[in-house]
Amino acid sequence: KSFQLNRISPLSGNKKILTIVMDGVGYTNPNANITSELKNQKGLLPSEAFITGNAVNAAYTPNLDTLISSSLFRTLKAHGTAVGLPSDDDMGNSEVGHNALGAGRVFAQGAKLVNSAIHSGKIFEGIAWKQVVGREELKNKKNTLHLCGLLSDGNVHSHIDHLFALIKGAKSEGVQKVRLHVLLDGRDVGPLTATEYILKLDSFLKEINSNHFDCKVASGGGRTFVTMDRYESDWSIVERGYQAHILGEGRGFSSLLNAVETLRQEKNYYDQDLPPFVIIDQGKPLGTVEENDSFIFFNFRGDRAIEISRALTEQNFKSFPRKRFPKIYYAGMMQYDGDLKLPELFLVTPPAIDRTLTELLCNASVKQFACSETQKFGHVTYFWNGNRSGKFNAELENYIEIPSDLIPFQERPWMKSAEIADITIKNMYDNSFEIGRINFANGDMVGHSGDFAAAVLSVAAVDLALGRIMKAAKETNTILIVVADHGNADEMYELDKKTKKVIFDDNGKPKLKTSHTLAPVPCVIYNTEILEKNVSLKTDMPNAGLANIASTILDLAGFNTPDFYEPSLIEFNSEKKKILK
Ligand code: 3PG
Ligand code: CO
Repeated sequence: KSFQLNRISPLSGNKKILTIVMDGVGYTNPNANITSELKNQKGLLPSEAFITGNAVNAAYTPNLDTLISSSLFRTLKAHGTAVGLPSDDDMGNSEVGHNALGAGRVFAQGAKLVNSAIHSGKIFEGIAWKQVVGREELKNKKNTLHLCGLLSDGNVHSHIDHLFALIKGAKSEGVQKVRLHVLLDGRDVGPLTATEYILKLDSFLKEINSNHFDCKVASGGGRTFVTMDRYESDWSIVERGYQAHILGEGRGFSSLLNAVETLRQEKNYYDQDLPPFVIIDQGKPLGTVEENDSFIFFNFRGDRAIEISRALTEQNFKSFPRKRFPKIYYAGMMQYDGDLKLPELFLVTPPAIDRTLTELLCNASVKQFACSETQKFGHVTYFWNGNRSGKFNAELENYIEIPSDLIPFQERPWMKSAEIADITIKNMYDNSFEIGRINFANGDMVGHSGDFAAAVLSVAAVDLALGRIMKAAKETNTILIVVADHGNADEMYELDKKTKKVIFDDNGKPKLKTSHTLAPVPCVIYNTEILEKNVSLKTDMPNAGLANIASTILDLAGFNTPDFYEPSLIEFNSEKKKILK
C-alpha cells in the first residue's frame, strides 16, 4: 500500500531539515565513572577517557558538547533488537542503523532471517538451494560446491554458524566435494582472533569429513584487502579475491592455519589486512573454480557482497580482467540489491523494506539531498533507501559522493569531513533541498583501525565540520538532527563486560578493539527556534531508537506521520517554555 504524506504546516521561507550521521560515534556519559567531588574539576574528563580508550570523550569537541548540553539532547538505542538484530548482545552496524533511520521502523535483519531460515529448514527448501546445491553433478563429484565469505561470528556480514549449517546441509544433500574460500575478519571481532575461528572450523571439518564428503579450505585473505570492497571504492580488492578464489593464483600454503601464522610472523598483520593466499596440495591449488561448479557467497549483508557477486556473474564485466570466467551456478546468502536483482538466486529472502522516507517524500514532491564520501556513500543512499541502489525520482533526489582516499584511514583521520561540510553548506545556502542527510565516516572507519590516537583526531575532525554546519544552519534556516548509527570510536580498548575496566594484553598494553560497540548514540535537534512552535522531546520514550528519527523529520517538516512508522521523538508546545538546563 502506498501512503500519501499531507503537509499540515509546510516549512516556509526556505526552511530545511538536515540529518547528520556521525558514523561510529557512540555516546557514553563522560561523568558516569567520575565521583561527584571530582566532577567539576576540568581536565579529569579527558584523562578518564584516555585511560578507557573512549576516543569520543577524549576528543576536543566543543560543538558536540554544546549540542549535548541542550534540552533537545537524548540518546537512542542503536544495537540489538532495537535495530532488528537477533539479540541485545549484537552490536549495531551501519546497515541496520541506516535501514532503521531511512525506513522509520525496525525490520528483522539478515542475521535474524538467516537464523530462522536455518532453524526452520526453509533455507534448504528454496529454489536457490535446489538449483545451486541439489545438482546431480555435485552428487557424482563431477563438479564442486564452493562456499565463500567472512569467517567469524561478528554477525554484521556473516556468522560462522551459518557456514557450518550450509556445509551440513550440503552433506545431507549428497554433495561430495566442497571447497571453502574464507576471509579473515578482525573488524567485527577482535583484531587478532582469526586463529580462534580457524581452530573451530578445523575441528568442525574433522568431524564432518568422511569417505564420501570432502570439504577443505582452498583460499583466503584478510577482508579489507581481499574480496570485500564496497561502493566501488577499490576494485583491486575484489580482483585479488577473484585471483585467489577462482583462479587459484596467489602465494601458496599447506593449510589455512599455516598461511595465517606464517604471514603474521613475517609482518605484524592484523587479520583484516592479511594478503590473499591459496592452499596447495600436491603442487596444485586445492580448489579453483571450474566450469559448471556451484558457488555460494555466504555473507548476508550486501554492501561488501555486491562487487564480488558482479565479478562472478556479470557477462560484460569491465572492472578488472578476469582472465578466465567460468560459467557457474551462483547464489548469495541473500539478494544484495533489490533494484539490480543481484544476485538472481539467493538462499534467504531479505527484509522487505518498503515505504521508506525517501519514497514518501518523493511522492510528496520534496527535494532531498544526500552526501557522504565513498566509504559511506551507499549508507546514505542504498542502506537509507532499504538496500536499493536506484532512485525513486531522480529530479527530486540529489546525491553527492566525495571520493574517499585509498589509504589506511588512521593515516588521515580527518578523511573527507571538510569536503562533505563544504558541499553540504553550499547546498544549504543554495536552498537546493528541503530534507537532507549526510554521513561522516570518520569515527567508524578510523575506529575500525584500532588506533586510539587517530580515532581521537577523527572525532575532532567531525566536530570541526559539525561546527561549520551549525553556523550555516543558523544562517540558512536549517534544523539539524545530529545522530550516529552505532558506536565504535567510543571504545578503542577492549573493556571487561562486567567491570568496564580495560583488558590488558600479555605485554601490559591495552587490548585494542576494532569492532563496533553496544553503546547508545547521541541524538540532538538543533535550531528549532526557526519554527513558529516550541519543540520539546517527549519524555515517555525511554526505549526509542534509530527508527524514531524518520517520523521526527516528518514532524519537524510539518507532515503527518504515517501510523506504520515508529512515533516521533518530539512534541510541539504552543506556550514558550523556559528551557531548563
Ligand atoms: C565494515 O563493513 O566495515 C564493518 O564490518 C561494519 O562497518 P559499518 O557497519 O560501520 O559499515
Ligand atoms: Co563500522
